[in-house]
Amino acid sequence: MKVLVIGGGGREHTIVWKLAQSPSVSCVHWTPGNAAARPGSKVVIQSVKADNVRALADLAQQEKIDLAIAGPEAPLVAGVGDEFQRRGLAIFGPSRQGAQLEGSKVFSKQFFLKHGVPTGRAVIFSDFNEALAHVRRQPKPLVIKADGLAAGKGVTVCADDHEAEQALDEAMRQKVFGESGRQVLVEECLSGPEVSVHAITDGRAYRLLVSAQDHKRALDGDHGPNTGGMGAYSPAPIFTPELEARVRTEIFDRTLAGLRAEGIPYCGVLYAGLMLTKDGPKILEYNCRLGDPETQVLLTRLDGDLAAILMAACRGGLEGVEMKWKREAAVCVVLAAGGYPGPYRKGDAIGGLEEAARLDGVHIFHAGTALHENKVVTAGGRVLGVTAIGANLRDAIHRAYQAADTIQFEGKQCRRDIAAKACP
Ligand code: AMP
Ligand code: GLY
Repeated sequence: MKVLVIGGGGREHTIVWKLAQSPSVSCVHWTPGNAAARPGSKVVIQSVKADNVRALADLAQQEKIDLAIAGPEAPLVAGVGDEFQRRGLAIFGPSRQGAQLEGSKVFSKQFFLKHGVPTGRAVIFSDFNEALAHVRRQPKPLVIKADGLAAGKGVTVCADDHEAEQALDEAMRQKVFGESGRQVLVEECLSGPEVSVHAITDGRAYRLLVSAQDHKRALDGDHGPNTGGMGAYSPAPIFTPELEARVRTEIFDRTLAGLRAEGIPYCGVLYAGLMLTKDGPKILEYNCRLGDPETQVLLTRLDGDLAAILMAACRGGLEGVEMKWKREAAVCVVLAAGGYPGPYRKGDAIGGLEEAARLDGVHIFHAGTALHENKVVTAGGRVLGVTAIGANLRDAIHRAYQAADTIQFEGKQCRRDIAAKACP
């Protein structure tokens, strides 16, 4: 089959890499891609931007694509799923309505409350003064969330009135997140360790992926600003079989039942961000796509044909699918550009890529790279996801850092403690 992967980051390179290994895949079209693909492979780079919904569907028709896979959330929230379905094209990724689970925190909170998915208490506001009056009456800390997508920046944990007022002002009056701040949620502050759990679903059956954990803060020891993710590891020892059983019944079973009750078809990923409170797991958010860089460690552990699994999900046949996983552990260390997550350097030549890729068990996934005069240069905040598989987490950590240290570019930064908390 011919497949199309939409998006140009590390997650998408990993999906492309895995699909290219599949015997059932003859060709992988990747748009807009990055500098990762090698000429002569099964991979064809296309130039359609990931948010151009109509042009993506045109491309799929022109190239007679059998299955499209949407990597990031933005095209899903923009309706790429609906456009493909309208034209009878198979796509792994939900419709705009399903993607509201990620795209609107108001929608998802109402969904959780209606369908009994455990979550923090919250009140919704569209008027600044009402929100402010409410916030002043609440105990602190509390959490303020802009309703819509905000590039991971729409959530503020506020320690006192001053911080809360500032967060409300930014979202609702200064509109720093644009329309996404038209409504806000004022939510109780939960505490406990966080864990993320991915499932693939066809809207009826679902399959949990193995556990994985990312590191959101920029600096070692979970300090510094939030980022898209500075690294990830799998398995996550915190995700015990007992916890898994609870998460299945309390979170995923209820979510799937809710989607069916609402008549929302959903073929795609449900990625739950959970907080393990003393009252049990509670959901903070759903994402409607795979995590980045969690995908890098998840798919290096997947033992099987990704294209066949995703096609089965699109056809509503996930019930008959068994996912097999390698026993080994995987670790991904993100190499970021100097300055990230603030304004960052671009266009620096990257050295040592081939040498690093030759190391045992190592895969170098490109995230923000481009070709300039036939050389690979930095082109994004997160540049590379240096990923290694090993007999256990310690072994995978060692290999990943050996590879990470082999790669050089001006301003390179990475955390030195990826996965360390999982192997004390
Ligand atoms: P979200 O985009 O909803 O996952 O929020 C991003 C981050 O904000 C989460 O990973 C948590 O660290 C934090 N957060 C979100 N909601 C809450 C909450 N109710 N209580 C405490 N922290 C939260
Ligand atoms: N790594 C976090 C995310 O993909 O949202």
